[in-house]
Amino acid sequence: MGSIQFRDLQRQYKYIKDKIDEKVFNVIESSNFISGPEVKELEYTLASYVGVKNCITCANGTDAITIALMAYGIGKGDAVFVPDFTFFSSGECPATIGATPIFVDVLPSTYNIDPVFLQKAVEKVISEGQLKPRAVVAVDLFGQPFDVSSIRAICDKYDLLLLEDAAQGFGGSYTDSAGTTYMACSLGDIATTSFFPAKPLGCYGDGGAIFTNDDKIALLCQSIAVHGKNTQDLENPDAKYNNIRLGMNSRLDTIQAAIIQAKFQVFKDEELDKVNHVAKKYTKLLSDIDGLKLPVVKMGMSSAWAQYTIQLPIGANRFEIRKKLKRDGIPTNIYYMKPMHLQKAFEGTRSSQANCPTTEELCETVLCLPIHPYLEDSEIKMICDKLKATLQ
Ligand SMILES: Cc1ncc(COP(=O)(O)O)c(C=O)c1O
Repeated sequence: MGSIQFRDLQRQYKYIKDKIDEKVFNVIESSNFISGPEVKELEYTLASYVGVKNCITCANGTDAITIALMAYGIGKGDAVFVPDFTFFSSGECPATIGATPIFVDVLPSTYNIDPVFLQKAVEKVISEGQLKPRAVVAVDLFGQPFDVSSIRAICDKYDLLLLEDAAQGFGGSYTDSAGTTYMACSLGDIATTSFFPAKPLGCYGDGGAIFTNDDKIALLCQSIAVHGKNTQDLENPDAKYNNIRLGMNSRLDTIQAAIIQAKFQVFKDEELDKVNHVAKKYTKLLSDIDGLKLPVVKMGMSSAWAQYTIQLPIGANRFEIRKKLKRDGIPTNIYYMKPMHLQKAFEGTRSSQANCPTTEELCETVLCLPIHPYLEDSEIKMICDKLKATLQ
């Protein structure tokens, strides 16, 4: 048993070192560092795994959300509904392109956006008459897909774009009532993910991708990701110097694409099962602690377990618990400490007007335990024993 890492990328590297080294070496030898053939190959691999026609890679998961929203022309005067309990990007992206994020409380069981509160928030925006409801950013928080059928129904009712923010969800899935399974990144009108190193499928730097079945939107995303180049004219080698709209410089570089390719086989064939084993083991060993709430995976959902997030009993001293665990060599994190609507960046704006008591309670009580596919049973047991001891 070595030291416990929150997400152990070194163990993963040791396990697949030969593959990674070979792929990275090949890119260096070819010196095709930007838009090398590995990028298109990866896009093809990921699109077919997810079951969506188009995958457009880009520089990170934040850009992926921004590009997707830009492709639909979302901007000033538009309301974009976002869970209050998420990473900042989910709300930052609509705001940076001039739209107004409207924060919605989450379900206490799954931590994902609450359909009842979403509907209320949409109705409120309509009745205020200031903003046009345009889109929902539905986050697959901690790896579990959002409540697909209920959120889809609301989006259909109010004609809203459903953007799945699967930065943490890649590899998860949803099985509908007819028994058909859909992979995360295929659950919205458009979906985005992140390849940040600690994500379920991470690269060795920053990376992201957009998934869509809509060919026109795919071309727009490709264009926006590369300075608004003319993607209608790809036969022309100079098309990238023909800038027909404003965009950004957001490419996944070839080395990162090669690294993701090298990791992908083991991710789908082994890591997803292994990380689900870790989560089950935690749940089994922690289920007898009074007042501790464990993550719930709903029927039909499969999680990629980006995080294993527990809720401490109300009144427990989270700071002290973390300190003791750290002393025992157990790293922990708090995702997230602050509701989105209370972030200073939104102070004084319409986005700060939200009533989200579940999020506020979660921010006070959650604790994320180490989780990754290479965590051993003996380590999980040790973490659970130490956690129990700190709670006594
Ligand atoms: C829910 C969510 N959305 C978006 C992002 C942004 O991804 P990136 O860090 O690659 O920009 C993250 C990253 O942590 C995330 O967790």
